[in-house]
Amino acid sequence: MMFIGSSVSAQEFEYIGAKKCKICHNKPAKGAQYKVWLNNKHAKAMESLKGAEKNDPKCIKCHSTVGHVDAKLVLTLTKEEGVSCESCHGPGSKYKPNSIMKSREKSMAKGLILPTEKVCKKCHNEESPHYKGFNYEEYVKMIAHDNPLTK
Ligand code: HEC
Ligand code: HEC
Ligand code: HEC
Ligand code: HEC
Repeated sequence: MMFIGSSVSAQEFEYIGAKKCKICHNKPAKGAQYKVWLNNKHAKAMESLKGAEKNDPKCIKCHSTVGHVDAKLVLTLTKEEGVSCESCHGPGSKYKPNSIMKSREKSMAKGLILPTEKVCKKCHNEESPHYKGFNYEEYVKMIAHDNPLTK
């Protein structure tokens, strides 16, 4: 199907950035996912790159969500936010409404990903010049942002 005046079709999900998730995912009683993410290395991944590296596709492909997604699907996501929510959970433009998010099934139909080890290994692999190995169980604990109310 063609959509005149738009390069993005109805079934293409766009990247909205972590601040949009923060609106609903920063309540301490529910695990404050935004704050946890902000304080771990993924949110600071762009800070590890110096000078020209910040624009080098070979580095930002893993150090920023912007670096590994289709540029025409980038809506309000910024490069500076580093490895953002949507690198792991998929583009949020269509699953972000509360009425969709309340249902796991509906959210997944609108692009939500519940990531497994495979998602991590897209970046945590030997192509990385600083690769330190990757143990999923250990690494997932280091970035844990569970919601105590849904466990
Ligand atoms: C308008 C509010 C709202 C926004 C915006 C929002 N969410 Fe949610 N999200 C929810 C609600 C409500 C749930 C259900 C669990 C709960 O009550 O916290 C949920 C659940 C989730 C889950 C768990 C799904 C499951 O079935 O285990 C993930 C992952 C998630 N959201 C990620 C995101 C990400 C990433 C963004 C931003 C791209 C985002 N959400 C934006 C309200 C929102
Ligand atoms: C395949 C993905 C990938 C690519 C490509 C990549 N990095 Fe990284 N980088 C990582 C990961 C993952 C880490 C975290 C280290 C770990 O746990 O393995 C990291 C860590 C770093 C660190 C921190 C060093 C440390 O000891 O923790 C620096 C600095 C860095 N990268 C710079 C770069 C530069 C510069 C480039 C481009 C030349 C680049 N990276 C390309 C994935 C990547
Ligand atoms: C889009 C690429 C990307 C994905 C996907 C990704 N990471 Fe990372 N991760 C990085 C980069 C880049 C760093 C290094 C950030 C820095 O220090 O500059 C990193 C760092 C980390 C660190 C900190 C390691 C340290 O040495 O302190 C942990 C823990 C981690 N990641 C866990 C995970 C887990 C678990 C997953 C999957 C659920 C995952 N990552 C998915 C790119 C990614
Ligand atoms: C590096 C990958 C990665 C990033 C970045 C990331 N998450 Fe997650 N998220 C995961 C994984 C993996 C799980 C499931 C953990 C588990 O096995 O319990 C998860 C679970 C969740 C859940 C469900 C919690 C529960 O217990 O029901 C929510 C909500 C969520 N993430 C929101 C976010 C938001 C919002 C952001 C950004 C502010 C974000 N995540 C960033 C990998 C990530």
